[in-house]
Amino acid sequence: MEQLIIEGEHPLYGEVNINGAKNAAVAIIPAAVMANGKCIIDNLPGIEDISKLVDILTKLGAKCSFDGIHRLIIDSSKIDKYKAYYDSVREIRASYYLLGSLLGRFGRAEVALPGGCNFGDRPIDQHIKGFEAMGAEVYIEHGMVKAYAPNLKGATIYLDVVSVGATINIMLAAVLAKGVTTIENAAKEPHVVDTANFLNMMGAKIKGAGTDVIRIVGVSNLEGVNYTIIPDQIEAGTYMIAGAITGGDIKINNIIPKHMEPLTAKLLEMNCKITEGDDYIRVIAPKELQSTNVKTMVYPGFPTDLQPQMTALMCASNGTSVITENVWESRFQYVNELKRLGGNINVEGRVAVIEGKAKLTGAEVKATDLRAGAALVILGLAAQGKTIINNAKFIDRGYEKIEDKLSSLGAKIIRVKK
Ligand code: EPU
Repeated sequence: MEQLIIEGEHPLYGEVNINGAKNAAVAIIPAAVMANGKCIIDNLPGIEDISKLVDILTKLGAKCSFDGIHRLIIDSSKIDKYKAYYDSVREIRASYYLLGSLLGRFGRAEVALPGGCNFGDRPIDQHIKGFEAMGAEVYIEHGMVKAYAPNLKGATIYLDVVSVGATINIMLAAVLAKGVTTIENAAKEPHVVDTANFLNMMGAKIKGAGTDVIRIVGVSNLEGVNYTIIPDQIEAGTYMIAGAITGGDIKINNIIPKHMEPLTAKLLEMNCKITEGDDYIRVIAPKELQSTNVKTMVYPGFPTDLQPQMTALMCASNGTSVITENVWESRFQYVNELKRLGGNINVEGRVAVIEGKAKLTGAEVKATDLRAGAALVILGLAAQGKTIINNAKFIDRGYEKIEDKLSSLGAKIIRVKK
């Protein structure tokens, strides 16, 4: 097992570069399965989820090769399988995007029910509803989701909940289907738009990505393309919060400031000073952080994937803060670990009340999922003394070289094998 060990109370100063967006990359790689030719994907993050997804594509018959860490060449022409088994997909939630892309390419797909971070029930009924509306027969057997549709047809699909996964999966299946597909009540997250841009560059006809209604006119062929993935909104936000909690002054480069607006607004309320340019944000922490309230929502609301990190920040602010989690049913399971570092947090259902100005002291803790792990790193940076974070592998699922980036900003953090 690998651990991250942090010696807290060192303010962060300097500049940090943000990698490509995990949640765009994990949709774009499965989308490349449908290309008639080679895809070259740039600005991929060097994280565990990407290597796992590449292994799955290779097992399906694709030829994948990395040119450095951040560029991947995918040749899907030799893919001859449409099944992805549990041993490959259990740790990566986004493997469900292979349902949409394999269904589009072969008219059939079998993918084991996915794994990923565990924060309560993670149904895929809206994905299935979309495929069925397009004429697919979908059932679950021996832990596999099996979808068959020799003649996938366009349809109008209203999503009962705004779902990133269902929106992207239906979009993937629809690009090679016959006729027009309309997704109503669609998710608007930046990675939905990025996936649509990638598909459009390949020759798809998608309009409206980034709005509530996405319209896809089916085409018969998708070409291989060279595409650069957008910067990671959540990685950027994690560093913004890390700068704020340590009383530092950091510039976060290679980002899209507009994607950061929900967090920027909150950091301003907490008294941080923020300046921004075309592709960077600088966060200057105040002498004393003020409390605030946050409700997580679908984009452009405050992202649920920054909720644990924000909870950590609130532990160090002055006054009482409230976070309401509106996206995931039980995404506060991690708070007991923050409490071990001194966090004063009370959870009632979907609401956490955080009493600020807690006396934060280092302790041995464990990451229970990706963003919970990031929250522990953030609180560990502010806590007095040594924090040992077990299960660092969860953090590696979404953050490239987190200890190197934080060290370059002045944090005292190392990785050890236990
Ligand atoms: N939902 C349904 N039925 C469905 C699909 C979703 O009821 O068929 C519900 C979920 O239970 C949840 C809500 O809809 O309450 C939103 O789920 P969504 O489908 O949007 O989530 P996802 O696609 O499984 C992606 C990200 C998550 C992020 C959520 C919300 C990827 C690979 N994962 O998950 O990211 O929390 O959107 O923004 O894109 C992370 O990066 O740490 C992470 C967990």
